[in-house]
Amino acid sequence: MTHFLVTGVSGLLGLNFALAVDGKKHQVTGVANTAPLTWATFKNVEAELTRPGAIDDLIDTHKPEVILHCAALANVDACENDPALARQVNAELPGAIAEVSRKHSVRMIHISTDAVFDGSRGNYREDDETNPLSVYAKTKLEGERAVLAANSDALITRVNFYGWSAAGNRSLAENFVTRLSAGKEMMGFTDILFCPMNILDLSALLVEVSSLNLRGIYHMVGPEAMSKYEFGRRIAEKFGFDPALIKPVSVNDSGLKAARSPNLTLSTEKLRAALGRDLPDFAGGLQKFYDQYRRGYPEYIKSLA
Ligand SMILES: NC(=O)c1ccc[n+]([C@@H]2O[C@H](COP(=O)([O-])OP(=O)(O)OC[C@H]3O[C@@H](n4cnc5c(N)ncnc54)[C@H](OP(=O)(O)O)[C@@H]3O)[C@@H](O)[C@H]2O)c1
Repeated sequence: MTHFLVTGVSGLLGLNFALAVDGKKHQVTGVANTAPLTWATFKNVEAELTRPGAIDDLIDTHKPEVILHCAALANVDACENDPALARQVNAELPGAIAEVSRKHSVRMIHISTDAVFDGSRGNYREDDETNPLSVYAKTKLEGERAVLAANSDALITRVNFYGWSAAGNRSLAENFVTRLSAGKEMMGFTDILFCPMNILDLSALLVEVSSLNLRGIYHMVGPEAMSKYEFGRRIAEKFGFDPALIKPVSVNDSGLKAARSPNLTLSTEKLRAALGRDLPDFAGGLQKFYDQYRRGYPEYIKSLA
């Protein structure tokens, strides 16, 4: 059994990880901040993690074996509006947590992003040159560097995932479902490529790597590259919605504030070599997303907020 301290447990990844992992051979203590859970099946507490001493206190009190650091300012346009907060949360906080984790000999897994690359090429490997375009991406890259400088044993995973959230709108996939199920049109970018991974598949991989002796940066994204438009079409087809409701558009016509990298596809060869097998496929991940929908999981997860 491994005891995980999960930061950002009110967020998309942290909450799904906690629900998937706690009580199934492992234990989770979740940390929320401004949006505490109203109830949960796992232990959860509240903490403003940028408060000096907050992480020390959490480790002293809960004695986790692994810190899974999911907390971030993950809204790309919010980062553009408040670069100082983005730097504090996405760059300085991970470094501080890495420092404390080293001091207490607690394993740290830090969640980073595919957006550290400018997307001019795609299929990036871990040691390829980074060139983040937005405040979000720049501060996340600074966070990676701060983690490695403070704790060279830390594991950094660059991810891209989808799933259901307590807020109901944290994931592109659930936004597609919300609009298409109501018969409403939705834009799908044809010129942004990425490798989405189901959040349950990602959670299982994070548990698996927590007990392996991996350190440094690993790419942990889905094995199939597609445009955001194609992603929407695949969701529509799986759920039985009208795929024609998804309108193919260019990101250049979207009016989004922050610059987006056009090709966020990553090579996962390093991770596959470490695991000795392939990563879960896209169709299986999409089926899990659909099965959760059929079972009422979106309503269940919203009831925790
Ligand atoms: N979503 C994606 O597709 C995607 C893609 C690539 C990488 N990532 C990365 O994956 C990780 C998880 O993202 P997500 O989508 O799950 O994020 P999210 O839904 O926006 O959740 C962010 C979490 O961080 C917490 N948080 C923020 N500032 C905090 C602070 N000062 N102290 C304590 N907690 C704080 C929030 O707590 P409260 O809400 O309670 O305040 C919330 O639980 C992030 O590192 C993100 O950069 C996400």
